[in-house]
Amino acid sequence: MKVLLLSDLHCENNHEKTGKSIIPAVATYIREVAPDRVIVAGDMAGGAARCIRYLEELEQSSGTALSYVPGNHSIWTDKRTDSWHEYELLRAHHSSLIGKPLLLGDKWAVVGDMGWYDYTYREKSWTREDCVTRKESYWRDSVFARWGMEDEEVTDRMLDSFRTQLEATADRRVVFVNHFIPYDEYCPISQHSRVWNMIRPFMGSRRIGELIDAMPHVEHVVFGHVHYRYGTRRRGDKWVHCHPLGYLHEWKTNNIEREIRLASHVIEL
Ligand SMILES: [Fe+2]
Ligand SMILES: [Fe+2]
Repeated sequence: MKVLLLSDLHCENNHEKTGKSIIPAVATYIREVAPDRVIVAGDMAGGAARCIRYLEELEQSSGTALSYVPGNHSIWTDKRTDSWHEYELLRAHHSSLIGKPLLLGDKWAVVGDMGWYDYTYREKSWTREDCVTRKESYWRDSVFARWGMEDEEVTDRMLDSFRTQLEATADRRVVFVNHFIPYDEYCPISQHSRVWNMIRPFMGSRRIGELIDAMPHVEHVVFGHVHYRYGTRRRGDKWVHCHPLGYLHEWKTNNIEREIRLASHVIEL
């Protein structure tokens, strides 16, 4: 079983910046790899409707089934709706992993949900209020992610979802997918970027990592969100995969045909 990992395609932003849709190039690459399944770990585009449009376009033009978990951009909304509305639209879509583990063969399951952040990666000297203040200044979720509850509570909900799904698949080997950073070492303090240090609290949750580390049947961990290509690394008894495409200005080349090869990974199950 061959599974292709992608994340953070940011389709509309990259269309705007490169002057053409990235979907045809990504679809051609998928056809070339010919995986049994494609997993996209969030941030396909901004808002649920646009995400769904791009997911369906990619699915049709690649001829391959996709599995998706939302990223923070996927649930961005204006004042008329809240982010749970966007989340529910994505959950109802056939590509969604939320609440319905994808069984692959008789041994494997893909388990996923969006995840969120809870400031566990803040610097030790920062209070929770420091994080809230910095979120308003540095992080656009403060305007467009509207949950009607605190970030920690959203994370609690995600942890409940992960726990339930992981317990239901305890008899299988699991590929775990969420959008956010689950481990400290992927969210280090920078000596060079003040802005990065300001936004670290919004990168993920240490509690997600602790949950999956207690689950030995989780063998692969897939995430995105941070637009730094950490690649694939061994961590204890798990493989950890981070292969985001990110924005044009973050690419190594300005050529989507080459870039998508650099920002993807195949796992054989
Ligand atoms: Fe992203
Ligand atoms: Fe993100």
